[in-house]
Formats: sequence, C-alpha cells, structure tokens
Amino acid sequence: MIVVTGATGHLGRLVVERLLTKVPARDIAVAARNPDRAKDLAALGVEVRRADYAKPDTLGPALAGAEKVLLISSSEVGQRVPQHSAVVEAAKAARVRLLAYTSVLHAGTSNLALAAEHQATEAVIRGSGVPYVFLRNGWYLENYTEHLAPALQHGALVGSAGDGRIAAAARADYADAAVAVLTRDVEKPVYELAGDHPFTMAELADELSRQTGKRIAYRDLPPDQYRAVLIGAGMPGAAADLYVDADVHVAKGELDDSSGELRRLIGRPTTPLAAAVRAALGR
Ligand SMILES: NC(=O)c1ccc[n+]([C@@H]2O[C@H](COP(=O)([O-])OP(=O)(O)OC[C@H]3O[C@@H](n4cnc5c(N)ncnc54)[C@H](OP(=O)(O)O)[C@@H]3O)[C@@H](O)[C@H]2O)c1
Repeated sequence: MIVVTGATGHLGRLVVERLLTKVPARDIAVAARNPDRAKDLAALGVEVRRADYAKPDTLGPALAGAEKVLLISSSEVGQRVPQHSAVVEAAKAARVRLLAYTSVLHAGTSNLALAAEHQATEAVIRGSGVPYVFLRNGWYLENYTEHLAPALQHGALVGSAGDGRIAAAARADYADAAVAVLTRDVEKPVYELAGDHPFTMAELADELSRQTGKRIAYRDLPPDQYRAVLIGAGMPGAAADLYVDADVHVAKGELDDSSGELRRLIGRPTTPLAAAVRAALGR
C-alpha cells in the first residue's frame, strides 16, 4: 500500500494520476484533510482517508498499513515543522518501509527563508529512524506560468531576481519523480531535482514576447520596490516577503542547478520553458 498525502493539491493529484498508470488502484490510498475534495480520486478506485497534518489523531489511521508514504509538504507556511513531525511520528508507528518527502532544492545549503522548515523537517525525518528519500524539488514552472496575466497586461515582468538562473521544472516532472521513487528501488536518500533548461527572468520575458508577439520586458527592481509592487497588487505582507526573499536568492544562483538528476530519475528531459509558456497561453 502506498499512501499519498496532500493528494487534493496540485502536485498530489498529478502524483496519484501517474501512480495509477504503474500500480493498481487497490494498492493506493490518498490522505486528504477534506475527503470531499477527493471524490474524483475515490472515483478512480483509490481509498480516501482523512488526514489533517494539524490533527495528529487523524494521522495514525491515515497511514495504517502503508508500506510507502509520500509526504507532500504542507502549504501552511509557519506550521509545517509540527505538522510534518506529526506525519513522521505516524509513519514511524506504522513501520513504513519508505517515507518520501518533498523538500526544497539544495536544502543542505539553501538560504531561502522557505527552506528553513524543509531543513527542520529533513532533520526530524533523519532522526526518526524511518527509511526515507528526500525529493528536493526546485521551483515549479507554474510559479511563473500561472501568473502571466499582469505581465501580459502591463507589458512587463517585475522581480528582484537579477540575472539569476532558475532551473524550474513542471509539477508533472516532479510528480513523475515521486512516482519513480515510490515504484522502484530507491538508489540514494537525497535527490536534487530541477529542470534541464535554466532561464533568467529576462529570458522568460523574451519567451513571452516571442509567443505573444508583444514586447514584454523584464524590469529588475530593488527588493523594497518589488515588495511594494506585490503589496500594491493585493498580496499580504508575509507572502510578499517570501516572494522577495526567493528572488533575492535566485539572483545569487540558489535555484539554479545543472545536476540532471530529475531528467535521469524520470528517464526523459524535463518540460522546457517554451512548452510551459505555450500551454499557459493556450497556444
Ligand atoms: N517547488 C515550488 O516551486 C513550490 C511552489 C509552491 C509550493 N511548493 C510546496 O510544494 C507543496 C506541494 O505543492 P502544490 O502545488 O501541490 O501545493 P498545493 O496545491 O497548495 O497543495 C498543498 C497540499 O497540502 C495540503 N495541506 C495543507 N495543509 C494541510 C493540513 N493541515 N493537513 C493536510 N493537508 C494539508 C493541501 O490540502 P487541501 O487540498 O485541502 O488544500 C494540499 O493538498 C506545497 O504545499 C508547498 O510546500 C513548492
């Protein structure tokens, strides 16, 4: 039995979809804090279990009988360490043979503010004695392609990423990586996963210009000005801080990678930027 947590999220759904091409539905259970949102997954024949990371008493039953568990990191930034720790405890109690955790690229050295909770979770997992694999996911291409409207409207992308390269890959690429470690023998405990085609924000703007036929420029802003733009667009301060922090670290090359580990793990090239932009623009 393989249990996938966070299964009603974007990544989780892709994992379950792809897992079903490799493993019979009866061998998959999905854990969701709101089982009503998993009705489509139940219709695919997988068992749906209630699991709220913030309610440890739900986690034992959710992981019961699991041989392998994919812990998709919680989206509740600031709450993640206790939440993930509760899942690790439940995995230990269930004596799972493998706990796969979606961490962040280069977690061992990353200075991103967002990395701190992943680093702490990795430490909890390492200390638990549960066999593990860390899927250190780089940035999603969708972080950009799902938010193109303002750039198309204003003819400009803004950020503080300088000319830092971003080795982003599609969620579907990371989902295939998760399926690979859940369905094959795991060869090592840590995978640094990133796209084959790193790009700068200026290159993203060029790709947008090319595909839309409109001039879209990248305007690099000092971090405080970028933060003001995000707040002005209605983003809460805490989220704006994380966006700005990420860009500052992109500028230092922290989300670049040329290891090719994702490509090797999934046995195919990762999704190119141009394809992701084309799909987002519906072309
Ligand atoms: N690498 C990147 O670029 C990047 C970008 C964004 C996020 N991330 C990280 O990767 C994770 C997966 O990405 P995603 O795109 O699939 O994000 P997502 O769609 O927001 O999925 C997050 C999942 O976590 C679940 N969750 C949140 N709090 C929970 C709780 N208390 N108990 C149980 N489940 C809970 C959500 O449940 P519901 O379905 O009920 O909401 C959802 O299924 C995110 O959570 C975040 O940590 C990475």
